[in-house]
Amino acid sequence: MLSLHPHTLPARAPVRVLELFAGAGGAALGLHAAGFEHVACVERDASAAATLRAAGFPAVEADVRDLDYASLAGTIDVLWASPPCQAWSKANQHADQKGAEDVDRNGWPWTLRVVRLVRPRWAIFENVKNARAYVERTVVPELRKLFAHVVIWVLNAADHGVPQSRTRLFVIAGPLAVSPPRSEPRRSMRDAIGVAYDKPAPCVMTNEWKGRPTDPSWWKKLNNASDALAIATKGARRKLTLGECAALQTFPEGYPFTGDVEARYRQVGNAVPPVLAAVVARAVRAAEEGAETVRESLPALGALADRVLARAVVLVRGRPPRGIGAEDIDRFVLRHAGRLRAHVVDVIDKRAA
Ligand SMILES: C[S@@+](CC[C@H](N)C(=O)[O-])C[C@H]1O[C@@H](n2cnc3c(N)ncnc32)[C@H](O)[C@@H]1O
Repeated sequence: MLSLHPHTLPARAPVRVLELFAGAGGAALGLHAAGFEHVACVERDASAAATLRAAGFPAVEADVRDLDYASLAGTIDVLWASPPCQAWSKANQHADQKGAEDVDRNGWPWTLRVVRLVRPRWAIFENVKNARAYVERTVVPELRKLFAHVVIWVLNAADHGVPQSRTRLFVIAGPLAVSPPRSEPRRSMRDAIGVAYDKPAPCVMTNEWKGRPTDPSWWKKLNNASDALAIATKGARRKLTLGECAALQTFPEGYPFTGDVEARYRQVGNAVPPVLAAVVARAVRAAEEGAETVRESLPALGALADRVLARAVVLVRGRPPRGIGAEDIDRFVLRHAGRLRAHVVDVIDKRAA
């Protein structure tokens, strides 16, 4: 069994990420853009793992079930996983319960197992939106036992800077509440790859390399980005190039996809758009930074409260209420110093807000 020992992994990073089912690194790129650093990207497909290595990510080419995670316990800030989701994808309409029983096509049970072993500060999962019922029933209750806050977001990438309609489910579990990202103006297929189609592209699929039938009735379904391209080019049949698919997915130009044609298109079509992953990662970062600001400002607020309190004591001692001596005031302040200070901090804090 391969051991993921901290000594063999990069030195402490600002936010340490363990990613499972990492594919070619779409999510990894987004996390990196948000300032997170991977200690390991676990992926069993040889071509995808080669892409991860070529892009500079710490790929661990292995089945997630063959690793020993014990040594990572307590060292991981974010566990990100995109468990295999064929069981719920539109192309494969199985009942979600059936999917849950098929371990090889359903990565959720293993993902939860790793969460329990590693105990990350945050767990972030991405999946197709059809998985929602299963996730709500089976995954969320387990996460609630381990994390203070668990939310599900269904985000369309087109609303977050990606020139493609791609609706995905995100589960975010952690110690703090996270605010969902705001929508941004949409980008069209024309903006991204210069073809005459003025909407975001439909979903980029893993099989774009095959192209589409020439029968225009097929395109009415507008299932994927190649269909939109066919309409934009007045029906001329042309499949999207790998570069076009990668651009619609917001991969940087020249990203080193590795493997044969089919493998490279599959890696692109399987990916979380990096820009969408970055949006989710930044939301988590903002929650951490919000908490950090409060933590940082507490000492300053405390010092101010001490000054206010000292001034109040001087004033009251100078003109003590009838029947109360200076020693009574000192005794009272000493006895209730903690509560008085907390109250003053509270008042100052509310005024500042
Ligand atoms: C939906 S893709 C993930 C895409 C990735 N999040 C990205 O943004 O590029 C799922 C990946 O899980 C990998 N995978 C499936 N079962 C696996 C297993 N048991 N162990 C490791 N990787 C696995 C597949 O090879 C595939 O690349």
